[in-house]
Amino acid sequence: SRGLRGSSAGKPQPSLPLCLCAPAAGMLPAAARPPCDDNLCNVPQAPPSSPSKRGRKENAGRRLLFGEPPAPGSPEKRSETGPSPRHQGQETPRSSEPARLFRQEGSCYQQAKRVLHTAVPDRLPARERETGVITRFLREHVGGERPSSLYISGAPGTGKTACLSRVLQDCEDELARSTTIVLNCMALSSSQAIFPAVAEQLGLPAAAGGAGREVVRKLEKRLTAKGPMVLLVLDEMDQLDSKGQDVLYTVFEWPWLAGSRLVLIGMANALDLTERSLARLQARPGCRPQLLTFPPYTREQLASILQERLKQVPGDPVLDSSAVQFCARKVSAVSGDARKALDVCRRAVELVERDVRSQTVLKPRPGGE
Ligand SMILES: Nc1ncnc2c1ncn2[C@@H]1O[C@H](COP(=O)(O)OP(=O)(O)OP(=O)(O)O)[C@@H](O)[C@H]1O
Ligand SMILES: [Mg+2]
Repeated sequence: SRGLRGSSAGKPQPSLPLCLCAPAAGMLPAAARPPCDDNLCNVPQAPPSSPSKRGRKENAGRRLLFGEPPAPGSPEKRSETGPSPRHQGQETPRSSEPARLFRQEGSCYQQAKRVLHTAVPDRLPARERETGVITRFLREHVGGERPSSLYISGAPGTGKTACLSRVLQDCEDELARSTTIVLNCMALSSSQAIFPAVAEQLGLPAAAGGAGREVVRKLEKRLTAKGPMVLLVLDEMDQLDSKGQDVLYTVFEWPWLAGSRLVLIGMANALDLTERSLARLQARPGCRPQLLTFPPYTREQLASILQERLKQVPGDPVLDSSAVQFCARKVSAVSGDARKALDVCRRAVELVERDVRSQTVLKPRPGGE
């Protein structure tokens, strides 16, 4: 086995690797979580919860040997920091089979942390439908030169940005004849700043310094002049939703200007951004954006996302599948956020790695598993 083990198969409450026990317990109920528990790991300063931190009963049948075996009956010694107090009254996954820790080659932890990254992955399990919708939209409207707009909504970590980035990369050749502009509206100083930002991307630097209305006029002129299709992707688009400025209207109306060559894709968390803030567009059915919603990931989907990543690490699993299932269950119950699930697992691996590194000789009990 490699590193951590969860419970035996069939247990409803699988055992978790070290850090997952405490933080996951801290997640329930969500309201009781400490404010700094953004990563669902609320014990970052505490020594990692190694098996020796568990109750005597749970540890029965397992012993970690640090050079010399400890004297019979003496408590197991940990490194200088000693065991951290057990979290009372929190839900902790239990197992009839104790967690066991073995000396590891450090590289498996490095690899596990690498594959649990939160950048855009090569494959996006559980997002086949959404990827297909975006790809078809691009083919139909950018490839087919039919201006239009698409609004993508969904809670944080549901894969909106990752899916779109994946599709843009996969369709690079098909999009080669058009101009693609991707802007994250979070980076803008104000909602009005979108206009000079787009102008600059379209090669209108002089307009970038102009007064607000003037920039919009120049932009609209450019977007309706002859030329290749323009694909404008605005991530975190809710940043443009400022009272009384009509920035969202202006942007969503661009595809419908006479002679427009703009295809717009907006992304944000709010499901109802377009209904709420673009009520006027509802009255003009032709101008309404197409909608695509990314639902929160289910437990099964989160587990498959994590497993898909972890299977890229050669050799025995670094995280036992019951630990992955436990993490997926907890995160799906709270948010269905893949970023969070990846963070939890990566943090768990970090804690185990730190724990293992601090131990000089660590091997399974003779005759044990
Ligand atoms: N289906 C998936 N398969 C593999 N990894 C995923 C999947 N969905 C999300 N992730 C991982 O989670 C990360 C965060 O997802 P992403 O940035 O796309 O979320 P988002 O919906 O754009 O969130 P936000 O609303 O906060 O911007 C991705 O970069 C990726 O590493
Ligand atoms: Mg995003």
